[in-house]
Amino acid sequence: MKKVDVILGLQWGDEGKGKVVDVLTPNYQVVARFQGGPNAGHTLEFNGEKYVLRSIPSGIFQGGKVNVIGNGVVLDPILFREEATALAASGHDLSKQLCISKKAHLILPTHRILDAAYEAAKGSSKIGTTGKGIGPTYTDKISRNGVRVGDILSPDFQTIYLRAKHRHENILHSLGYDYDVAELETQWFEALDYLRSFRLIDSEYEINRLLLEGKSVLAEGAQGTLLDVDFGSYPFVTSSSTVCAGACTGLGVAPNRIGEVFGIFKAYCTRVGSGPFPTELFDETGAELRRIGHEFGAVTGRERRCGWLDLVALKYAIMVDGVTQLIMMKSDVMNDFDTIKVAVAYDMNGRQTDEFPYSVDGVEINPVYREFQGWKCDLRDCRRYEDFPEAFRRYVEFIEQETGVPVKIISVGPDREETIVR
Ligand code: GDP
Ligand code: IMO
Ligand code: MG
Repeated sequence: MKKVDVILGLQWGDEGKGKVVDVLTPNYQVVARFQGGPNAGHTLEFNGEKYVLRSIPSGIFQGGKVNVIGNGVVLDPILFREEATALAASGHDLSKQLCISKKAHLILPTHRILDAAYEAAKGSSKIGTTGKGIGPTYTDKISRNGVRVGDILSPDFQTIYLRAKHRHENILHSLGYDYDVAELETQWFEALDYLRSFRLIDSEYEINRLLLEGKSVLAEGAQGTLLDVDFGSYPFVTSSSTVCAGACTGLGVAPNRIGEVFGIFKAYCTRVGSGPFPTELFDETGAELRRIGHEFGAVTGRERRCGWLDLVALKYAIMVDGVTQLIMMKSDVMNDFDTIKVAVAYDMNGRQTDEFPYSVDGVEINPVYREFQGWKCDLRDCRRYEDFPEAFRRYVEFIEQETGVPVKIISVGPDREETIVR
């Protein structure tokens, strides 16, 4: 029986998961999303075209693969229809390649409104969510009030929907939040008809059957480990399990069925929304990372906060995920930098630690940096590890030595082709 390989972001999201899943897909027969929803924005570039996927697995462009939206995902029918019809219009027909778990939860129009209402109620301590209704949908799932994809096949669906909507309306009323859901609701019901045209399945059976048949499966994570609801920088996190264990609960595969765990990180760090970011740069270097790396949210267009690579956080993520191979992205962004810094420890109120803290409230974190000489050449021209300048190889090998995990893939540009496998 084959195992499921998992690909995960090790930072605060946007590490380049979409690109790498697309690059790795030829080695797999099945690609499955296991958590998150349209808060994700996974970018892929090939043949001069750029695509951003939100709920659909990034294996969709390699043809002839089974793509699965697993039970751990939350799905917004409106955004799903938008995404799927845009892909169909560009010649990528999904109907035969995509199946959706009946146990995935639906994002209702009122979930989006609740997301906005909760953020407004938090005032200056808001999370800075993507506004897609992610938190309220997962809250309903855990509190056993959710509406699932399989419910749309029930003759009682209208009743199930109205019960949930009324609950939401009561909450919105108690928050004194003004809203108008009519237009969104009309679109939502139209989009459900589109959703019904897909294969809605018990995906845990499908995936385990495929594994038994010897098919190889790649599980595609969304967000990043530091946004995990348990292990991230709580409460500035998303509402799902973004860690490797999330692939088990989000697809219905047993822990002993997990094979390789690919951990993706950028050669620096970014974060969107609120929350702690110890190595954040507020100076010209931070602005350079943003400008050269085009660090603007794929979903919301918001500026991403930028900073140096943080090995304390990276090692923490590798530990909770059980990463077996590292994948380093976007080193090319720092091609012209004279010096590059990496945080190797935190100084917290005069005490040094290399552990990721429980909370940073009221604590000043000063990263302890190790400095590297820049490589000062265009990495995008390199196609083999041996082609890289020595200064860059020193950077890579330092990360391997510190983490104890090999860096197996290095990405030096957004295109499929700009990928070096060691
Ligand atoms: P994801 O959410 O993890 O899939 O990542 P995003 O798509 O949100 O953000 C990654 C961005 O970096 C996208 O715009 C990619 O096209 C781009 N990208 C990916 N890998 C590289 C790389 O190695 N170098 C550069 N310069 N850009 C990259
Ligand atoms: P991908 O898959 C980066 C962030 C939001 C916010 C927090 C909670 O493209 O890496 P949510 O809407 O999930 O309730 O927002 O999480 N966030 C992301 N940041 N990349 C993402 O996805 C993200 N998905 C959510 O900015 O801080
Ligand atoms: Mg993204």
